[in-house]
Amino acid sequence: MDKQHILSATQFSRTELELILDRSREMEAILLGGGSKMCVGKILGALFYEPSTRTRLSFETAMLRLGGEVISETDVTFSSQTKGEVMEDTIRIVGGYADVIAIRTKTKGEAKLAAHYSPVPVLNGGDGAGEHPTQALLDLYTIAKHHRIGEEPLKVAFVGDLKYGRTVHSLAQVLRHFEGIEVSFVSPEVIQIPAEYRKTDDQIFHELSDEVITESDVIYVTRMQKERFDDMEQFQEVKNAFIFDAEMVDRMKPGCSILHPLPRVNEIRQEVDALPQAKYFEQAQNGVPVRMALIAEVLGV
Ligand code: NCD
Repeated sequence: MDKQHILSATQFSRTELELILDRSREMEAILLGGGSKMCVGKILGALFYEPSTRTRLSFETAMLRLGGEVISETDVTFSSQTKGEVMEDTIRIVGGYADVIAIRTKTKGEAKLAAHYSPVPVLNGGDGAGEHPTQALLDLYTIAKHHRIGEEPLKVAFVGDLKYGRTVHSLAQVLRHFEGIEVSFVSPEVIQIPAEYRKTDDQIFHELSDEVITESDVIYVTRMQKERFDDMEQFQEVKNAFIFDAEMVDRMKPGCSILHPLPRVNEIRQEVDALPQAKYFEQAQNGVPVRMALIAEVLGV
């Protein structure tokens, strides 16, 4: 993957996914040993034009744990873009300072545009309501830790805002590579999964059925993406559509994993956090070894 951009989850082959999982496991061991010097002299440029906690900080932590350094821009109001500089120019400039760029943009397709102008690899940290491929890889890594993915049948249910939830768009594509995975999409109709991300044999539900709760092996919950709704009345109507509490988790399979890319608002009650099915904090931690693996891969180190 030397010098490659990471723009969409559709770009990975099964072999590349396996390679990233293996490399992430290695990175986890390296982290336990205190980090590495693999990227000494290398710089990550982090350009985040939408709010972010986990993605930006785990990218930055990943580079620091590899012995590299970080330059970052996190608020467009402090950027030359407020003076009228176009993103293409910013990318050319930062690509001259850094060896790899992680970028989060407000508009779908903008990470691809950035890659077009960048002299260095671009890692898409979320492009509007489009995709979030590096999140999909850490989600996959988390699932693979708890389930024999590709080796046993696995029922995966995505629940929440599936129209604007970019992490769902990417993870659904990644899961296609593994045999035996049954995918269900559960959301209010107005925010259902866009056709481009679903396959004909996926199941679509507009209510959270008993079957989904009791039979799923992985339940991937997402936040209603308030900032992406055009119609606030519509947001008000759906904002409390699904709320996971301890009683609901009690009905799940004991080995079920509840994932969430975070941040959560009200869709998973805090009482769930201590239950064994809750894997979302561990999932967020996995962002570091997986992003270390990606940085090392695209830099060819
Ligand atoms: C998600 C995102 O930014 O798409 N968060 C993340 O990167 N972990 C999910 C969200 O904002 O709801």
